[in-house]
Amino acid sequence: MNPPFLFLLSCIFLCVLSSLANSENQRIPEDKLLVLTVATKETDGFRRFLRSAKHFNYTVKVLGRGEEWRGGDYMSAPGGGQKVHLLKAALLEIKSEDQIILFIDSYDVVFASGPKELLKKFQQAKHKVVFSSESLIWPDRHLEDKYPHVREGNRFLGSGGFIGYIPSIKEMIANWTGEENDSDQLFFTKIYIDPAKRKTLNITLDTKCRLFQNLHGALDEVVLKFEDGHVRARNVQYDTLPVVLHGNGPTKLQMNYLGNYIPNLWTFETGCNVCQENLRSLSSLKESEYPLVVIGIFIQQPTPFVTVFFENLLKLQYPKNRLKLFISNQEPHHEHQVSSFLQDHGSLYQDVKSIRPEEEMDEAAARDLAFDMCRTDKECDYFFNLDIQVVLKNENTLKILIEQNLPIVAPMITRAGRLWSNFWGALSADGYYARSEDYVDIVQGRRVGLWNVPYVSSVYLVKASLLQTELKDYKLFTSQNLDSDMAFCHSVRNKGVFMYVNNLHTFGRILSTENYKTEHLHNDLWQIFENPLDWQERYIHENYTRVMKDELIENPCPDVYWFPVFTDVACKHLIEEMEHFGKWSGGGNVDTRIQGGYENVPTIDIHMNQIDYEKEWHRFLLEYVAPITEKMFPGYYTKAQFDLAFVVRYKPDEQPFLRPHHDASTFTINIALNQVGTDYQGGGCRFLRYDCSIQAPRKGWALMHPGRLTHYHEGLPTTAGVRYIVVSFVDP
Ligand SMILES: *[C@@H]1O[C@H](CO)[C@@H](O)[C@H](O)[C@H]1NC(C)=O
Ligand SMILES: *[C@@H]1O[C@H](CO)[C@@H](O)[C@H](O)[C@H]1NC(C)=O
Ligand SMILES: *[C@@H]1O[C@H](CO)[C@@H](O)[C@H](O)[C@H]1NC(C)=O
Ligand SMILES: *[C@@H]1O[C@H](CO)[C@@H](O)[C@H](O)[C@H]1NC(C)=O
Ligand SMILES: *[C@@H]1O[C@H](CO)[C@@H](O)[C@H](O)[C@H]1NC(C)=O
Repeated sequence: MNPPFLFLLSCIFLCVLSSLANSENQRIPEDKLLVLTVATKETDGFRRFLRSAKHFNYTVKVLGRGEEWRGGDYMSAPGGGQKVHLLKAALLEIKSEDQIILFIDSYDVVFASGPKELLKKFQQAKHKVVFSSESLIWPDRHLEDKYPHVREGNRFLGSGGFIGYIPSIKEMIANWTGEENDSDQLFFTKIYIDPAKRKTLNITLDTKCRLFQNLHGALDEVVLKFEDGHVRARNVQYDTLPVVLHGNGPTKLQMNYLGNYIPNLWTFETGCNVCQENLRSLSSLKESEYPLVVIGIFIQQPTPFVTVFFENLLKLQYPKNRLKLFISNQEPHHEHQVSSFLQDHGSLYQDVKSIRPEEEMDEAAARDLAFDMCRTDKECDYFFNLDIQVVLKNENTLKILIEQNLPIVAPMITRAGRLWSNFWGALSADGYYARSEDYVDIVQGRRVGLWNVPYVSSVYLVKASLLQTELKDYKLFTSQNLDSDMAFCHSVRNKGVFMYVNNLHTFGRILSTENYKTEHLHNDLWQIFENPLDWQERYIHENYTRVMKDELIENPCPDVYWFPVFTDVACKHLIEEMEHFGKWSGGGNVDTRIQGGYENVPTIDIHMNQIDYEKEWHRFLLEYVAPITEKMFPGYYTKAQFDLAFVVRYKPDEQPFLRPHHDASTFTINIALNQVGTDYQGGGCRFLRYDCSIQAPRKGWALMHPGRLTHYHEGLPTTAGVRYIVVSFVDP
């Protein structure tokens, strides 16, 4: 670098430095700022406030800790005088005169930026005391005329946040002699609207929310702003980035929403930054030291796949002798499943209590009673709620939730492929479901983390210590006008307890219980429409997907394809369903069930339409067979319509075999429902034109072959036991 250029560079450097030094002279050093707040209780909101303060290195002094709150209930009446009282006492103890005091609420307040920006904006306001502003007047609207007009911005004073020099604040509150439940906001308002006092005390309002954002009356003005790895709230009305956010009045839930991101809890660049905080590790514990959990299981309506529910419960990775079960069943239809689970596995658990349908206990009472089982048990550490329609796929769910160490936390579960989930992102004005801006992103996993939400249901973990304290009211679920789940969340919100939903992992699904009929033996077979994924997991062979992918498809005879399609459970259920129905045909040629009433090659069988299973069977063929047909017979597109679909029974003393015949189909599907060698001897199928036989049919595997012309075939004799197959003539 040549000397003149270096000279120029150092000049620029020096000039910048000196101008920096100039403004530095006027700037209030950050250590002059003291944050004062009143918090008589350590609520979840208070902890959130402290976390945000710590994040930006604010120096915070908490007043009134452990004292009884006598300042009134903000929701119903003005109050808050106790705060002024405590502030006045605290200021008397501060001797230094050049300090800046920020006095703010804390239960529903979060910092969005640090002391430096706050002090800079305070200085730019050019007043000794700056109050937060509100667009709504409170508590005395008759004072409106007395307020000075503002050209732009909020006109009214909010006492939830103000900042100022110590001497001015001391002077401002020197005359306070109010009751603990008098309105602090009214007190400050009266000072502010007095022109003389306003001038001498040098008070102004932060009308455009540069320092303070009160959310009440401003919900539409405030949006999240993500930029360069940071997240702020932005007031779009005044184009400002407030430093302090306050969910005053009825805006606590919006504060919870913003507080899921601010300050930097979650950003697009980093994802969740708090998910690893305050974990409670279980990994170093011996099994006997695991927290004791009461699992409350609730069966409120006929529900599919209850057997699978209990299988999943059994698979839960947790020492069973540290679990107690409370099972409330209101459905006689499910009594058998509950009792057989308890009979087989109940003794593995430390304790089991069950409520049977005959007791006719309503849902709210049962849920209250379940909570009480944990509440009154000195050993109980957690209550884990598990409704019967929850499909818990993640065996570590309980451990993960415990380790998260939150007051109430739900694993996010959704209805497969739908936006339906077990949480709400927001609440409508009348207390029902509303969709938050981030709801879809959370449900679809584009934003993963821990989310403070107003409603969770179906599956969630509650700390027992909460049931001892904030949630000690016995009847949390009982309400005149709300469903029990909503009543519970309503109580929790009112107590200021945070409910989180966790979507850091996949946990499982929630079943649809609609259209679940109970008139059959294995009603789950009919669930292919309502809960297709659960139906597939239960009934479709685990290697089916490989049929399409890795060509796991065999070709035992010309144009005969052989592939796995049903699970053992599917085979078992179909056989049992047919035997339960029991109206096997006589095997004669006269058959009133079919068109024409005459069957050339009769079998002993039951048609799908006799058990009302045609629609479901068609769906199965379309979903699981048609793709294979199209793969093996390229250019042929099937609609999977079938003239006949039926289960055939072969027995040595009934009908042991079927004479050679053509099927009246374009192609035929023939699935073996039981196991040669175990369930029966003999059997199989021979294609005469090729002199080719399949003599060891595999249970759950389908044979697919053309009908009509080429594949003249016969059913080989069953020599012992009973053989079942399910056959469909597909056309076209
Ligand atoms: C807060 O203080 C710590 C240690 O003094 C420092 O490492 C950190 O950068 C500070 N954070 C902010 C936001 O100023
Ligand atoms: C308020 O105080 C500032 C100095 O902090 C001063 O510049 C300003 O003129 C004062 N305003 C009034 C209305 O007295
Ligand atoms: C406090 O009371 C004194 C005496 O009545 C009065 O002069 C003064 O203006 C009051 N100060 C404030 C800030 O209200
Ligand atoms: C305020 O507290 C006093 C007792 O300190 C009580 O008499 C009064 O009824 C309370 N007012 C309200 C509105 O709660
Ligand atoms: C699926 O395929 C694997 C690998 O060939 C095999 O070990 C397994 O037994 C098959 N599953 C069933 C249910 O047949």
